[in-house]
Amino acid sequence: MTLLPGVPDSVRLEEIDEPPLSDGSILVRTLALGICGTDHEILEGLHGSAPQHSQHLVLGHESLGVVETAPSGCGFSPGDVVVGIVRRPDPVPCPACAAGEWDMCRNDGYTERGIRGRHGFGAERFRIEPEFAVKIDPDLGIAGVLMEPASIVAKAWDHVERVALRSQAWSPRNLLVSGAGPIGLLAALMGRQRGLDVHILERTVAGPKPALIGELAAHHHASVGSLGDLRFDVVLECTAAPAIIVEAIKRCAPSGIVCLLGVTPSGLTSEFDIGGFNRKLVLGNEVVLGAVNANLSHYRQAADALARADKLFLERLITRRVPLDRWREAFEKRPGDIKVVLDFT
Ligand code: BGC
Repeated sequence: MTLLPGVPDSVRLEEIDEPPLSDGSILVRTLALGICGTDHEILEGLHGSAPQHSQHLVLGHESLGVVETAPSGCGFSPGDVVVGIVRRPDPVPCPACAAGEWDMCRNDGYTERGIRGRHGFGAERFRIEPEFAVKIDPDLGIAGVLMEPASIVAKAWDHVERVALRSQAWSPRNLLVSGAGPIGLLAALMGRQRGLDVHILERTVAGPKPALIGELAAHHHASVGSLGDLRFDVVLECTAAPAIIVEAIKRCAPSGIVCLLGVTPSGLTSEFDIGGFNRKLVLGNEVVLGAVNANLSHYRQAADALARADKLFLERLITRRVPLDRWREAFEKRPGDIKVVLDFT
């Protein structure tokens, strides 16, 4: 599955060479590939870059595969089910990358498989370095493809909880999640696992989203009005819609923490009361932070969250499984879609 970064609609399915050994010593046969908003942005030519000396980029960063061959003693054996870590540290490396926190890269020199300067996992076989492969419970089945998006959410929770340590009396009660896409629903799931009263702002009232919100025993708010005057200890903003970002900040309770997880294009201007924003944050000890990507510890936290989740719930997040010979359909946006997966089996 390749494309020319920067060229809209250039995605195609084509024969390419076997993955080079320089990609890593483990050879993986792909089982499934998740498609996300970032892939759509890359398809539209708005994001993404090819590796040096290549015009095309192999797409795909939400992987699930089975090890075909691995060097002995590397910690992986044929048959292991694995997911590939997306980001690679910058080559300098910066202090964060040097400490294994490539998700916090400080010089912008990182690469990302299937996104930025490195071929992705959207091929029948890919190679990966043992230190960037993560084993996952084979019992998860196809739901294992949710590991990468879950790692993003695990990082957001990790950072929210680190910020929360500034107060010894931190005892959050409720959570607002905006958007019931895969990231929002996984964020809500992890909120329920923490025993929080979870509210989800999601405009869709039909299809699988409301049912899944119900399965989490979360409150569904189809409009901002339905939130009344509720304020939240934690707000996880997963829509990347400017008006909802503003609402998410407004809904933060004193001492609360808002984490922004969606990526917006720049240039979306709207009126915003910066004085009121500053006043609210300062007088309320509130925090607004952004979070992207994930390091190995977050993949481990994600694996733990997925292992504790109801498997049927996870499977129902995957609303369409598209076989490889109908691959174009995987990139269509259809009503009711939550996670669309390209099935390589
Ligand atoms: C991926 C992240 C990546 C980000 C920015 C997201 O879709 O899940 O791993 O860091 O895009 O490229």
